[in-house]
Amino acid sequence: MPPAMARVSLTGIKPTGTPHLGNFTGAITPALKLADDPGTSSYYFIADYHALTTIHDQTEMRQLVREVAATWLACGLDPEKTVLYCQSDIPEVFELAWVLACFCPKGWMNKAHAYKAMVQKNRDAGQDADDLDAGVGMGLYTYPVLMAADIIIVDADLVPVGKDQIQHVELARDMAQRLNNTYGADVLKLPEAMVQGQDETLPGLDGRKMSKSYGNTLPLFVPAKKLKKAVNQIVTDSTPPEAPKDPASSTVFKIYEKVATPAQIEELRGRYAEGIGWGHAKAALFEVLDAQLSGPRAVYEELMAHPERIDEVLHDGAARVRTTAQAVLGRVREAIGIQR
Ligand code: TRP
Repeated sequence: MPPAMARVSLTGIKPTGTPHLGNFTGAITPALKLADDPGTSSYYFIADYHALTTIHDQTEMRQLVREVAATWLACGLDPEKTVLYCQSDIPEVFELAWVLACFCPKGWMNKAHAYKAMVQKNRDAGQDADDLDAGVGMGLYTYPVLMAADIIIVDADLVPVGKDQIQHVELARDMAQRLNNTYGADVLKLPEAMVQGQDETLPGLDGRKMSKSYGNTLPLFVPAKKLKKAVNQIVTDSTPPEAPKDPASSTVFKIYEKVATPAQIEELRGRYAEGIGWGHAKAALFEVLDAQLSGPRAVYEELMAHPERIDEVLHDGAARVRTTAQAVLGRVREAIGIQR
């Protein structure tokens, strides 16, 4: 086992879309808060090879990786304290993924959520029983093995993730445990999921959960004018301006609550009770958003205009992580008898 030191917390960010406000409130803000804990060393990485299960356009891939990295840096990730890197820059991950695959029963993958969801989709679409794997690539099928390697390669203790990823972290733990049992030694650290942002879902423009797949997102870093236009698209009801309004059933209010200060929230609640026109409610939301985002937006734009700076941060992060990754892989190779 490695010597006792600060807890290691690691999380991966799949670069499958331009970050939006839902990512900001649900993932980025809580993760950055966590990274501030002095008792924890945090590793945040961009899971570009995981995104390869769906992104098959080289320009899009390159762009998304930079957008995600620039977003986290603009939102305040300090790369001196939190190691930010790209999965594909750590070759040790992929070697470990193979080793773990050899300790992962195929049946475990059959039970993984993403795969089961695909099978169900095929079943619902009336596919024949012998073709329920239609559209399932080996990348999707073995996704949890690669994710286990991401986690285990840095001796992670804690993995902050959304609810949908708990199962993957448990599978990583099971694979590590199985390897340890096989060789009768504590070769690998057993990671634990830490559930983040349980009730944090932010509604989107149409009131459903804000999600890229619903096309209902508020973009994070667009010019103020565009942000205003997006805010104005939030769906409201047809109650007249002077009528008192119920904050609990207002999408505008629910988003406001996630970004404003307690005093601002109470003030707006009062205005809702008195009767407020939707135009004014949206203007209040836009103001708070713009005040919060204009600083980070400027940093983001500057970084995107100089992508070499983003790449430098990522390469530097990778170099730091590889020292740990090589040590962990060294323990594995020795344990399995591959090292001569
Ligand atoms: N599967 C995660 C997601 O879709 C991303 C991810 C990849 C990850 N590797 C990881 C998360 C390792 C935590 C730890 O969101």
